[in-house]
Amino acid sequence: MGYHDALAMLDWQIELGADEAILDAPVDRFALEEAAAPVAAPVARVPAAPVAASPVAAASAGEAAEVARDAAGAAGDLPSLRAAMEGFGHCALSQTANSFVFSDGNPAARVMIVGEAPGREEDQQGKPFVGRAGQLLDRMLAAIGLDRASDAPATAVYITNMLPWRPPQNRKPEAAELSMLAPFVRRHIELAGPDLLILMGNSACEGLLGRAGITRLRGQWAEVAGRPAIPMFHPAYLLRRPQDKAHAWADLLSLQSRLRSLP
Ligand code: URA
Repeated sequence: MGYHDALAMLDWQIELGADEAILDAPVDRFALEEAAAPVAAPVARVPAAPVAASPVAAASAGEAAEVARDAAGAAGDLPSLRAAMEGFGHCALSQTANSFVFSDGNPAARVMIVGEAPGREEDQQGKPFVGRAGQLLDRMLAAIGLDRASDAPATAVYITNMLPWRPPQNRKPEAAELSMLAPFVRRHIELAGPDLLILMGNSACEGLLGRAGITRLRGQWAEVAGRPAIPMFHPAYLLRRPQDKAHAWADLLSLQSRLRSLP
């Protein structure tokens, strides 16, 4: 295999989330060797990875969502919401992630983006959308004159995720995690009060619309927390399927024209 093929395979693995050579918890391979029966097939000696354990802690997902709803409802401003989420003890992802990732951008922005969950770079930096997908997102927004660093609400963007903690090895958020944390995201939207929302990818649609299937949902305006919301392809998906960028461009133009039509 040549250099470029090897690099392309490595890139593909990183896209799939296999971006670390170690697990989140150590595995004592010597102990495993001893415990293994001599005739056991090698695969039988691999224990269930600790990251595969259900991330929902002791309470059921439904109970946890209720706790989240109460805590979110009691938060009267963004700093209190941030504190309430950070102190929420029912999501086991908080124990494996390095950072709590709340938001980035300007909370006064007219446009708010809800993504999926922090990835490796976001977990390291404590900010959403700072890796490759985030860089593409910034370029997409710039194409319609929006910038997360802008002070002016008309050109600014405010960004958050469905989950504030990185799922181990960038696995997809589970339905239970999305529904447990959705009350916080809804309250986040209410407190920030944007005019329009972008639901970036399937997890945001699943968590806030109760529906997935981004290929059919994208570009179709819906409503979340009393605001118009447009589902779009996630930039991480667009990095893998650049041929779908034309759809993202159409959706950005739809957003821009909606913004212009609002007072
Ligand atoms: N993908 C997301 O959905 N959110 C991030 O913050 C980074 C990548």
